[in-house]
Amino acid sequence: MLPLRMLGIGLLMLSLCDADTACPEKLSLDPPEIIEEYGTEVFVNCTSTVEHDGMYWIVRNKSFHIELEENFISQSVLLSDWDVTAECKIMLNESHECSKELEMTIYKNPEVIHSIKRVRPTPKETQYDLDCDTINVAPVQNLTVKWYKNDELLDTNFFKDKTKTPVNVSSPLLITVNRGEEVQMRCEAQLNFVTHGLQLPVISQTFNLSAQYPPELNPEEETESIFVLQDDDITLNCPAEGNPPPVFRWTYDGMTMAESSNTLKVTHINASATYTCTASNYLGNTTKQIHIHVKQGEAAPATLPPAEPATPEAEDCPLMVTPSEIVVRFGDPASVNCSTSATNAVGMGWESPVGGTGFEHPPVVTWMVEKLEDWTAAPLCYITLDTTTGAEQCDKSPTVTLYKTPDTVSVSAVQSGPMVEGTNFHLKCDISNVAPVQKLKVKWYRDNETVSGEMFLDTNKTPQNVFSTHIITPERDYDGSQYRCEAELHLGPNGPDVIPTEISEPYTAIVHYKPFIKACPSSYTAVEDQLSMDMLPCSAGGNPPPTVQWYHQGKLINSSEPLTRFDTGKYTAEIRNILGSVSTSVEITIEYKPFFECMDHYKIEMNVGSQTKCEPKGNPAPTITWFKDGKLVNSPLRWTNHDSGNYSLKAANKHGTAEHAVYLDVLYAPQFKEGNSTKEMSLGENVTLECSAEGNPAPFIHWNLSSAANLKETTVGRQKIITITRATSTNAGVYICVATNEVGTVTRSVTLVMKGSNAAPMAVIWGLLIAGIILFTLIAMVLLHNHQKKHGEYSFLPANTKDSNVPMTTLSEGGKA
Ligand SMILES: *[C@@H]1O[C@H](CO)[C@@H](O)[C@H](O)[C@H]1NC(C)=O
Ligand SMILES: *[C@@H]1O[C@H](CO)[C@@H](O)[C@H](O)[C@H]1NC(C)=O
Ligand SMILES: *[C@@H]1O[C@H](CO)[C@@H](O)[C@H](O)[C@H]1NC(C)=O
Ligand SMILES: *[C@@H]1O[C@H](CO)[C@@H](O)[C@H](O)[C@H]1NC(C)=O
Ligand SMILES: *[C@@H]1O[C@H](CO)[C@@H](O)[C@H](O)[C@H]1NC(C)=O
Ligand SMILES: *[C@@H]1O[C@H](CO)[C@@H](O)[C@H](O)[C@H]1NC(C)=O
Ligand SMILES: *[C@@H]1O[C@H](CO)[C@@H](O)[C@H](O)[C@H]1NC(C)=O
Repeated sequence: MLPLRMLGIGLLMLSLCDADTACPEKLSLDPPEIIEEYGTEVFVNCTSTVEHDGMYWIVRNKSFHIELEENFISQSVLLSDWDVTAECKIMLNESHECSKELEMTIYKNPEVIHSIKRVRPTPKETQYDLDCDTINVAPVQNLTVKWYKNDELLDTNFFKDKTKTPVNVSSPLLITVNRGEEVQMRCEAQLNFVTHGLQLPVISQTFNLSAQYPPELNPEEETESIFVLQDDDITLNCPAEGNPPPVFRWTYDGMTMAESSNTLKVTHINASATYTCTASNYLGNTTKQIHIHVKQGEAAPATLPPAEPATPEAEDCPLMVTPSEIVVRFGDPASVNCSTSATNAVGMGWESPVGGTGFEHPPVVTWMVEKLEDWTAAPLCYITLDTTTGAEQCDKSPTVTLYKTPDTVSVSAVQSGPMVEGTNFHLKCDISNVAPVQKLKVKWYRDNETVSGEMFLDTNKTPQNVFSTHIITPERDYDGSQYRCEAELHLGPNGPDVIPTEISEPYTAIVHYKPFIKACPSSYTAVEDQLSMDMLPCSAGGNPPPTVQWYHQGKLINSSEPLTRFDTGKYTAEIRNILGSVSTSVEITIEYKPFFECMDHYKIEMNVGSQTKCEPKGNPAPTITWFKDGKLVNSPLRWTNHDSGNYSLKAANKHGTAEHAVYLDVLYAPQFKEGNSTKEMSLGENVTLECSAEGNPAPFIHWNLSSAANLKETTVGRQKIITITRATSTNAGVYICVATNEVGTVTRSVTLVMKGSNAAPMAVIWGLLIAGIILFTLIAMVLLHNHQKKHGEYSFLPANTKDSNVPMTTLSEGGKA
């Protein structure tokens, strides 16, 4: 039925067994290897590279002419058989010869036939079993058969068979075509030789495939009302669509019109009427009703519209068989009357292996069988008429359909279960002993839903065992579904009112599928010790039931162990069964009541922020309150030197409270009670200078001074005191007090000055003393002068006395005074 396009490819490769002595190096063949199509003739040259005593060809074990003189022989080989061998031999001396065999590959290009083996329509899609038969190809091990869907490579088949002679191979393909999809399928067979490359492919005819479905009408198209004027002409439309394209049947008032397209022309309408269109293909049918209303006046409804003459009542044989079609259950009684209105009837009768009659008198003979069990029963009613031209015989037959419901209808799996999600699974429905197979319709159900149907083209009338396969592409939802198949005999309007139906026992699908996550939060918060990972509201599906493993920080954890405050973080679940795994992550937050991890004593520097280093821990972060001596205090922004003391800290969050007692020691730099000052003293007075400072910790205080004999530093309590005993003017100056602790150093100065009046007595004493010395010196000089005048000598004072003996300013001052 399919137009064929053929090409041929073939190949045979001979691997020659080495003769006693093979000597490839002494002989060279041109061409060295043959790859040629079966039936061609090839020419080969053999050249010897050494001296010889004769050389010759052996083809198909037959030796040819021995060449003695030349180093070159040529030979033709006809590739007319698949085992052909050819070798070139050389005689080296009387006792030794060696040979080289010609490598030959003989091929034959195939014919390619592409066929549809089976069609399985379901409401959504149609599965086609296709087959690409590659016929008469050699060598099949070098053949590649490729399937193309819409010019895209879909499948490639290779063949292991080492046969050198032509064989037939088949490359099946299962393809699913969805509703609305159009696919073009073709297959290509191609020989491929390593050294000679690809041969031209042999390409099959292209098939256009689309999903098959029963005729359909839009719901609003199922009835139509048309208003016309009397005597109008009109064309009725039946827009049903189906694949294969439906056959249309038009009826009016129980009569069938001759029209079989989707339009019906009605002329000269004279009465309202209803026309029915039935569109059918092998998958089912649909019906449209068209009501024609004639407007204005009313027409006599008596006459029919121009119904095309109903099936021209056959020839002229004046016989009527009633009923003209019978449908009988195997073993039931059957009867058909045959009557005539012919007046010239001589006799009539039924011819049939069962229930036949003799030649009887007109006008009625009855064919009657009490138990119709003959599958081939085809009764025929004949009549003999007396005509002017002599006796004439004619006959008529009723259509007899004998049916039998199946003995058993059963579903079984073609392969061993369970089903695996996404992997096709074949179920088979065996229907035994049913007739007629052509009227059988097998429907497949998954639970209560029809999933596919199949009809049979077999025209055998006798009971047959048939089967229908259903291919399931399992989905996880199918797990636990029940598959049933139902065998229905659609026997037409003359069949029983209730369509004979047998349904199988259910086949329960077990579908294995990879784990998937049904629900799992992306984050979750729980209280310490009250959650383990196996309590998390996560659920996963999978068959076989998957195992769940939780990982935290890359490590497998015990999922039944309660989580503690340290376990906050990201957790990953690995959910696995034999078919695969999925994973999901959850951010877990573990909350807990506050607690303190603090020391009892803290030193804080004054004015350095309020943080204490004693922050309570807790989740959610606790609020903290401070109490000092039992009184609520605001945690100050800056600590001051008065804030040292015992505190009680209270931390609280929704999970509880915690308390902690702490002593805060606020450190601060020394502070003097007094500022810089100036103090007067009198000569010879005892003077004390005091210095004291506060600070935390208690500062170290000292006076910065150069040592002097009359200075003494003492400590009285927190004070440093300098005592100057009998002050002299050398004690005047600036005295600096230094106070230091770990927080800082401060200084303060006291300037000590001698009182002005108190300087006089000293100056007077010195003045008098110097005046006395001067006076004594003057008297001594006068006396010496008087003595020296006699000698003519005169001197007043030695030049250097003044400098060496007057170290102090007070002395010179005293001198002037
Ligand atoms: C013949 O030739 C073969 C191979 O070259 C050599 O081994 C053999 O000895 C020769 N025999 C004689 C009789 O020369
Ligand atoms: C044919 O196919 C076989 C197996 O793939 C390969 O070893 C061989 O070389 C092929 N023949 C040629 C002539 O390419
Ligand atoms: C109905 O139409 C047919 C066909 O044209 C015609 O023969 C017949 O007389 C009409 N009948 C009436 C009642 O008009
Ligand atoms: C055949 O004819 C007989 C007698 O006229 C009648 O009783 C019987 O019902 C008819 N049978 C059928 C099948 O029409
Ligand atoms: C602080 O508390 C401790 C222990 O209760 C106590 O010994 C100490 O005297 C307290 N200090 C102050 C300044 O109240
Ligand atoms: C000064 O101190 C010294 C030694 O302590 C003492 O002898 C002297 O009397 C004191 N002078 C005065 C005026 O107090
Ligand atoms: C204390 O005296 C020494 C030497 O006299 C001097 O170097 C130092 O700077 C003084 N210190 C202060 C704080 O005045």
